[in-house]
Amino acid sequence: MQLFFLLLGLLFSVLQAQDVTVTDKMTALVGKEVIFPCTFSSKDPKVRVTQIMWMNSTVSLAVYSPHLGIHVNDPTRFQLVDPSPTSVTLKISRVYYTDEGEYSCEVTTFPDGNLKAFTKLTVKAIPQNSAEAKSGVVADDQEKVVATCKSANARPPSQITWHSVIPGNISNTITNNTDGTSTIVSDFIMTPTWTTDGMPVTCITNYDSTDYPIPLKLSVQYSPVVTIEGFDDNWHLHRSGVFLICNAKGNPPPTSYIWKTVDGSPLPSSVRAKDNVLYVDEVDARVNRSFLCEVTNALGSRASRQDVLVREHAMQPQTNAGAIAGGVIGGILVLLLLAAIIFIVIKRGGLQSKKDRGTYNPKLRVFGSGKPTEQFTYQDDGELDKPLKGPVPLRDSGLSPSLGEEEDDEDERMKYKVLEDDEEEERFNEVGPMLQLRPHHPIDSYLDDDMESQTDGSIISRTAVYV
Ligand SMILES: *[C@@H]1O[C@H](CO)[C@@H](O)[C@H](O)[C@H]1NC(C)=O
Ligand SMILES: *[C@@H]1O[C@H](CO)[C@@H](O)[C@H](O)[C@H]1NC(C)=O
Ligand SMILES: *[C@@H]1O[C@H](CO)[C@@H](O)[C@H](O)[C@H]1NC(C)=O
Ligand SMILES: *[C@@H]1O[C@H](CO)[C@@H](O)[C@H](O)[C@H]1NC(C)=O
Repeated sequence: MQLFFLLLGLLFSVLQAQDVTVTDKMTALVGKEVIFPCTFSSKDPKVRVTQIMWMNSTVSLAVYSPHLGIHVNDPTRFQLVDPSPTSVTLKISRVYYTDEGEYSCEVTTFPDGNLKAFTKLTVKAIPQNSAEAKSGVVADDQEKVVATCKSANARPPSQITWHSVIPGNISNTITNNTDGTSTIVSDFIMTPTWTTDGMPVTCITNYDSTDYPIPLKLSVQYSPVVTIEGFDDNWHLHRSGVFLICNAKGNPPPTSYIWKTVDGSPLPSSVRAKDNVLYVDEVDARVNRSFLCEVTNALGSRASRQDVLVREHAMQPQTNAGAIAGGVIGGILVLLLLAAIIFIVIKRGGLQSKKDRGTYNPKLRVFGSGKPTEQFTYQDDGELDKPLKGPVPLRDSGLSPSLGEEEDDEDERMKYKVLEDDEEEERFNEVGPMLQLRPHHPIDSYLDDDMESQTDGSIISRTAVYV
């Protein structure tokens, strides 16, 4: 046993006595320089270095001899930096990917012979990552590239994935470049609809185990999507101050709103069209007809239709009265129930409080609870968030005054989000024929069947997006 340790110690001291040191693993970037240090040390003053040589796995790259000087295989690429018997540093001035591999520093001494140390070089290239949402994408029934992402000149290769709430297909193209790097181009492919305009997608490039996300917003152009609101089914003769509002979204933004009658006759003199609002100063029999609001943007025109039924007299708010009566009865029942609960609670609490008097007030349990109050507050807020009823400025129209374009867009988005959250979606689905128009066509042709299918298409996919 002792002998074993003695031998081990001897071996160790021999290794320690003469030592070649290099860096085990090195990384270099394509086109940049890399420096391989190699040092030799010996505790035995009698040992003489006769030569130090740097090799790759096949050939000698550079040799240093204290007596004979320096020899370098390819001086345009390799150099020895300040060589001496104790240190020979190899420099590669422009690294190619072919330089990747194992290198060795070999020291020849007299009288002990050769000592070798190995170092491994990995060559990398950091990619340039970029991504863009395609501009000029038009919503139709065709699948197309809506966004593209690129990671160029990567080594090791990078991967691209997409993060999106919108379903889509991904198509990747990988190119091996001559310099050992690779370039990946990834296309996000889908059938764009008007509801996907402005939707976020994120391209995620993974290079060398790190994610580099680039967020994008899709841009999808579509002809106007139009709805009309303001008709409450209680327009009666002599009612005043009613109006229809034509709401439209479009990309590019709508540039004109035109009010028409469905039968093509001129607008009755009892209505006034001003941009997206049709004012009726006083309801008369001439208003008893169907109206169209036709909205145009750079891609085309679409109209929405509102059938107006004029009544002789104001509608008796029967259903309302019924609802109110029901509400009142329901409210009384609820109050009774509440009273019963309070009564029971107080009674039980009273018994309890007799047991441990003074430490517990049962009334707090009923009235002090924060929860019901919070609920009511929340409902009130919800009410305030509902879209305002009344003449509103043009939405999403090129006619609106000069806010910053992006800010404008942002506002728009938020408005629609609020609407979508409650009833907008239903409204868009309910609204009667929403028709694709070609400019300058007679009104009857608006009612063609093939137009409806398009409308249906966008509505269906819209639901798909939000589900
Ligand atoms: C070693 O270096 C020589 C000279 O630069 C080169 O031609 C050869 O391809 C290299 N071999 C390896 C395996 O890197
Ligand atoms: C993806 O591609 C397949 C086959 O081409 C197609 O059936 C599918 O609808 C596409 N999905 C989307 C979301 O575009
Ligand atoms: C690109 O290189 C990888 C290995 O790095 C290889 O698997 C792939 O087949 C190459 N592709 C082309 C198109 O040459
Ligand atoms: C409006 O037209 C409907 C039929 O289209 C009719 O029943 C109704 O009486 C008309 N209202 C008025 C006030 O003329």
